[in-house]
Amino acid sequence: MADKERMIVVSNRLPIILKKRKQKWSVEPGAGGLVTALSPVLKDRGGMWIGWPGTRGRINLSGLRKILGPISEETGFRIVPILLENGEIDNYYYGFSNSIIWPLFHDLEALCRFQPQYWEAYVRVSDKFAAVIAKHSTEKDIIWVNDYQLILLAGSLERLGVKRHCVFFLHIPFPSPDLFIKLPWRKQIIDELLRFSFLCFQTHRDRRNFIDCARSFYPACRVVGRGAIVELEIKGHTIQIGSLPISIDYKRFRSMASAKEAALRSREIRKDITADFLVLGIDRLDYTKGIPEKLRAFARALEKYPHLQGKISLFQLIIPSREGVAEYGALRDEIQKLISEINGRFSTTAWVPILYRYGTVDQKELVAMYRAADAGFVSSLKDGMNLVCKEYCACQTDYKGVLILSEFAGAAYQLRSGAILINPYDVEATADALYYSIFMKEEEKKNRMRRMCKSIRERDVYWWVNNFLRAAAGKELKDFPEAEL
Ligand code: G6P
Repeated sequence: MADKERMIVVSNRLPIILKKRKQKWSVEPGAGGLVTALSPVLKDRGGMWIGWPGTRGRINLSGLRKILGPISEETGFRIVPILLENGEIDNYYYGFSNSIIWPLFHDLEALCRFQPQYWEAYVRVSDKFAAVIAKHSTEKDIIWVNDYQLILLAGSLERLGVKRHCVFFLHIPFPSPDLFIKLPWRKQIIDELLRFSFLCFQTHRDRRNFIDCARSFYPACRVVGRGAIVELEIKGHTIQIGSLPISIDYKRFRSMASAKEAALRSREIRKDITADFLVLGIDRLDYTKGIPEKLRAFARALEKYPHLQGKISLFQLIIPSREGVAEYGALRDEIQKLISEINGRFSTTAWVPILYRYGTVDQKELVAMYRAADAGFVSSLKDGMNLVCKEYCACQTDYKGVLILSEFAGAAYQLRSGAILINPYDVEATADALYYSIFMKEEEKKNRMRRMCKSIRERDVYWWVNNFLRAAAGKELKDFPEAEL
């Protein structure tokens, strides 16, 4: 494969923020790590990004293309939108993707709604994506498919009779066979994943789970090699299977956090908070994030160690998400109820234990919040990687912050030498971990944070993209201290 194959990135959601105000659409490039890392590669290779702009209802495609034109100039690559009908959004996006695969792959099978019409829509939307990809690509391009919404894409292209070089990265965990076996379409999902020439997971655990599931259908399959990339001989052919942890643009976060503006804003934030020790939680509203568990552990710490009352506060930012799935609305109510119970029980005239915000904040404010906090608290019940914890570390310019991290987040393995690892289901031990992080000696805090920052700096999102593309091209990985992963 030539170095400069044109690259086409496909994901359910486009890396843009589209807003409608007073009947007029406006668009901005997204600020996520994936788009930051992929932009230079896409620019360099003259590629494009294909996906859904997140819109619902009637929208004029040619009008949308017109407003996307200038954004493509800004980003340096083309953005190709695929519009979804309301029924497709309900059955493919909210349905199969977010009411079957999402809960099942996060080990929450009781939340799955195995509706046959969801599967039909999942197949149909994949075919719709494939038709657009076929139109915009050639046999020479590399098609990089991202995430669980588009597992069927390589197969959809094949069924159209279109030959393409398709590779895949799964951003969420892959479940163990005991759970995966519950899926009525389990064999189709394995077979469709096996159509990609390179399949990559966040962690060794996810890859092992996938191989175990594949083996349950194809007992004669064979794994060759070890390390980050292995070969799987299965169904008469060989595919590459990798495990590479996604990351953030470390330098960008660090330089934003080091700026004067961030220092000033973080001081302002602290001035408004009466507690001496500030714990920060930032999560997308999702039942996988363990937010009620975090709140209960925080309350337990206040109860178990009463001298902490008045001294510590938790600032919990919740970013709205998937409001069309019933569980998400119920979770929001549960969180708000818990916060008001805890605040009602412990607040004084001078101190509020939990400060809560539901909404989005821009990156500058986010960085100032990270910098202002004495501890970052991530309590996911299961998480593909979790980038909040890496962002928190990158913003600790004085290395004094403590990271309390769920052992069920993909990031736990990489950050285990510096984070205080917790089992979020264990309320007592999590409350103790909180206590420990408050009274940890400064030297220990700094040593731990330095170790985490080093690891995140060495394996940032550029490292991830480069190695993903090297592996997809059958090349050796670069800058890969295997022992540490
Ligand atoms: C997770 C998934 C992504 C998804 C994101 C936001 O990180 O891995 O594929 O885009 O959540 O969820 P949403 O449903 O709003 O796209």
